[in-house]
Amino acid sequence: MKFRTRAIHVGNEPDPTTGAVVTPIHLATTFIQPGAGTWGPFDYSRSGSPTRSAVERTLANLEGASGSLAFSSGMAATHCATMLHKSGDHIVAGCDIYGGTFRLLHKICNRSGIEVTLAPADDATQIQAAMKPNTKMVWIESIGNPLMTIPDIPAIAEIAHRGGSLLGVDSTFAPPAILRPLELGADIVMHSATKYLGGHSDCLAGVLATRDLALHKELYFIQNATGGVLGALESFLLQRGIKTLEMRMREQCQSALSIAQWLERHPHVTRVLYPGLASHSNHERAKKYMGNQFGAMISFEIDGDFSDTKSVCQSTKLFGLAVSLGAVESLIEQPASMSHASYDAQAKARFGITDSLIRISIGLEDPEDLIGDLDQAIRTSI
Ligand SMILES: Cc1ncc(COP(=O)(O)O)c(C=O)c1O
Repeated sequence: MKFRTRAIHVGNEPDPTTGAVVTPIHLATTFIQPGAGTWGPFDYSRSGSPTRSAVERTLANLEGASGSLAFSSGMAATHCATMLHKSGDHIVAGCDIYGGTFRLLHKICNRSGIEVTLAPADDATQIQAAMKPNTKMVWIESIGNPLMTIPDIPAIAEIAHRGGSLLGVDSTFAPPAILRPLELGADIVMHSATKYLGGHSDCLAGVLATRDLALHKELYFIQNATGGVLGALESFLLQRGIKTLEMRMREQCQSALSIAQWLERHPHVTRVLYPGLASHSNHERAKKYMGNQFGAMISFEIDGDFSDTKSVCQSTKLFGLAVSLGAVESLIEQPASMSHASYDAQAKARFGITDSLIRISIGLEDPEDLIGDLDQAIRTSI
């Protein structure tokens, strides 16, 4: 079956007791057992629940994984992956990563004695150079945040595996309708399912998917032991969002490309970062791994200072001024003061988070309306 058919049918089998065509929201936290010490398919909802298990089957199928785990947030999922490691281990992470992941690595993992080195993920030789004998995991984003860098996943998988390390890929910006990192050699794929997978800004969720069953079991053990599981209502919402993922992505990617092309021609825009543009330094690699869908996130710089940039972000009428991304409504934000505010000045300078950088998430509105809105916001602010 093709992707969009699987997105609707796998994990969505009619309810055997009622015939309901959507998976019921099972709120039960505990389940009657067949006998003392004899366990049924579910026992306690932290360990597993029917609604969560349904969406986990859908996600595993769409990612080409043997199993997936649904978490209460993307950060809970990433944290679970880092808990595979212990004091004395080393993680190499891409420079162009979500601010919350940067914070987790530098302010939480360090408390357990895990060492972290950042290296540009779009340059595999620098990832290689950052590897140490104690490196246990390489963590990259399939489309970097907020500079939209594209790593060479197969090359980095080879480097990681040669060094005895796992490769984890946060593919939040490139959901499985456009990219499947496990097929390119990654060991773990992670999503903030809050974004494209859920798709409607109403469900906070995270996912880890793996091919290797032993790794899946270990992650399941950590998830069950630490408890960051996805609730039943959110599992239902996530399942519902996934059914339209492929169609949403196709439209959003197409709109993003036309808006990025328009931005490139704008007199007040000095730089556009979108992997679908020939001017993007990783464009050829993006084409190789993503075909003709390059995601729906764009970053751009304007010829203004910090306050002009802030003004653009505050002057749009359709683009909502908010962090997050990937939903049907378009959003705008200033990474320096919002999504990447946890970076200190030195880190901002090192990782290209300039004062004039703006990040937009393209939703499902008509692209002409979005262009009109951006144009008026830029022209009234500069
Ligand atoms: C790339 C990326 N990874 C991880 C996260 C964290 O996910 P969540 O907010 O669902 O915890 C985000 C959130 O914005 C993100 O953009």
